[in-house]
Amino acid sequence: MKAGKSGDRVKYNKTDYQPIEWLGDRVRILDQTRLPRAEVYIELDDYRSVASAIMELKIRGAPAIGIAGAYAVALGARKIESVSRDEFLKKLQDIIDTIAATRPTARNLFFALERIKKTAESAKSTAHIRKVLVDEALKIHQEEADATRQLSLFGLELIKDSWTVLTHCNTGPLATSGYGTALGVIISAHQQGKKIKVIATETRPLLQGARLTTWELKKAGVPVTLITDSMAGYFMKKGRVDCVITGADRIAANGDAANKIGTYTLAVLAKENNIPFYIAAPTSTIDSSLKTGDEIPIEEREPDEVTHIQGVPIAPEGIAAANPAFDVTPHKYISAIITEKGIIREPYGKGIKGIIKPIT
Ligand code: MRU
Repeated sequence: MKAGKSGDRVKYNKTDYQPIEWLGDRVRILDQTRLPRAEVYIELDDYRSVASAIMELKIRGAPAIGIAGAYAVALGARKIESVSRDEFLKKLQDIIDTIAATRPTARNLFFALERIKKTAESAKSTAHIRKVLVDEALKIHQEEADATRQLSLFGLELIKDSWTVLTHCNTGPLATSGYGTALGVIISAHQQGKKIKVIATETRPLLQGARLTTWELKKAGVPVTLITDSMAGYFMKKGRVDCVITGADRIAANGDAANKIGTYTLAVLAKENNIPFYIAAPTSTIDSSLKTGDEIPIEEREPDEVTHIQGVPIAPEGIAAANPAFDVTPHKYISAIITEKGIIREPYGKGIKGIIKPIT
C-alpha cells in the first residue's frame, strides 16, 4: 500500500492485535507491560503520555519506538497555541527534544524525528505544519511496516526447512508495529510451509522473550520452546540450534550492531559452535554517521529491573545492580544483515554504503 495520509488506516499485518494505531486525534497502543496476562489498549492524546509510555516500555522495539515518537510529535503540534510560525517551530523543537530523550539507543526513533522535523520546516503555515506532521507520521508507520514485510521475505532464503531457530528479545509485530524483524523472517518461513521450530530466550531483565515472543509465536502457530538466557550455550553445543536470528536497535557503518543485552553473548556462542548468526533490521536502524559500534549510545536503565521480577524483589534489599539495556555485537560475529533492500554480508562497510541513502 502507498504511504498514508491523515484518515488512512495503516495496513501492516494480519494479526488480531494492533500495537500502535492512529485514531485521528489520539494514538492507541497495546500496553506491552501487561502482556501476556492481559491484552489492554490505552489511548493517548498528549505527547508527554506517549513519552512516558515509551520510557516505561508500554511500547517498545526500535521501529515501534520510532513510529510512536512520530505520532507523539504530531499530537504535541496539535496543542501548540496559535503563535507565529517561528515560535511554533521553537515549541515543536521542545516536543521533539522530549521525545528524543526517552530512549537513546534505537536509531529508528531519531530517524523518525529527523523526518518529522524536516517535514515541519518545509510547511508554510502553522495549520499546515499540524496537518503534514500527521501525514508524515502515518507515512513513517506505513513505510516501516512495509520494510519489515519486505525484509522478512528476503530473509526466507537463509532459513531452511525443519530448522530450529534461536531468537532473543521480541522482534515481532509488537516491536515493529509492522510485520517484525527477526520474528518477521521466522513467521514468514512458517507461513511458507517450512517446518521450523523456535527456541526463544526469556530475555532478562524485562522478559520480552518469555512474555512477548512466545505470545506472538503462539498466536502465529509457530512451535516455540522457551529457555532461560543461560541455557543458550547448552542447546547450541548439543547441535540443537541451526541458526540464531535477532533484530537490532542501531547498526553502525561497519556493521557492528546494538541489540538487547545478551545478543553479543549469543553471537559469540554461535561462532564458537559454527552456527550462522543473522541480524534482521530495516535500513532505518542503520546509523552510518557512526563508524563503529563503540560509538552507539547504550541505555542504562534502573537497577530495580534487575533486583525485581515483575515488581517482586529477588535480591536482598539495597544490593547494587547494573542494568545496561543493550550490547553491541562486533560485525565479525554477524553472518549477514537482512534489510528490506536486500541481504548484506562482509564487507559490511561497502554493503551498507551501497544501501543507505541520506534523508533528503
Ligand atoms: O528494550 P526493548 O524491548 O525496546 O528492546 C528491543 C530489542 O532489543 C529488539 O530486539 C530490537 O528493537 C530490534 S527488533 C524490533
